[in-house]
Formats: sequence, C-alpha cells, structure tokens
Amino acid sequence: MSELNWRPIYEADFLEAGAPQRVVVEGLPPLCVVQLEGGGLHVVDDTCTHGQASLADGFVEGDEIECPWHNGKFCLQDGRATSGPASDPIRVYASRVVDGKVCIDVPAPAA
Ligand code: FES
Repeated sequence: MSELNWRPIYEADFLEAGAPQRVVVEGLPPLCVVQLEGGGLHVVDDTCTHGQASLADGFVEGDEIECPWHNGKFCLQDGRATSGPASDPIRVYASRVVDGKVCIDVPAPAA
C-alpha cells in the first residue's frame, strides 16, 4: 500500500459551499476546489477537457460541475464527462481537510 502525500493547497475557511475556487499550486495544473452544499469536498483539474475554460467559473449542481463555455458537465466524484460536448474526463484528486487546510494527495515538489 502506498503512503499518501497530503499537500496543503488552500485555506478551508475560504471555501463557500457551491462556489468553486480556482487554485494555482506550483508544479501542478490549475486546480478547482469545490465544497458541495451538503459538505462534500472535491478537488479536480480546473481546465475543461473540451476547451480551455476554467471550471471554477462554472456552476455546481449536485455532484457535477458545468463548464461555463459550452455547458459540458463533469462528475466531481470520478471526473467523467457526463454531458457533451466534453468527452474526456478531468483528473480527480484525493482530498481532505487537515489543520484547517484543504490538502490533496500528490507528491511533494522536489526540493
Ligand atoms: Fe468546456 Fe467547451 S470548453 S465544454
């Protein structure tokens, strides 16, 4: 079993339910952090796989995020495209809150 690498990326206090946040972290593609109305937390790649739209400018409904450009939708749980024109999935990161910070499971940047 591999060890998880929880890397802090965002202040949990800044989260607002249903309001996706774009987060830029060194060494990673832009990220989109989403807290659902029901309290679930998701971190996915921010760039839509159809064009180059920022999903953080989109809309959250249930456990899906809708792209602001052409209304493609992605499941926040597993990243699959659930509505065209997007068809390729987005990456989903394992995430949790540790000591007030949203953390994702990615290797730490090289020193
Ligand atoms: Fe996202 Fe087209 S850029 S659906």
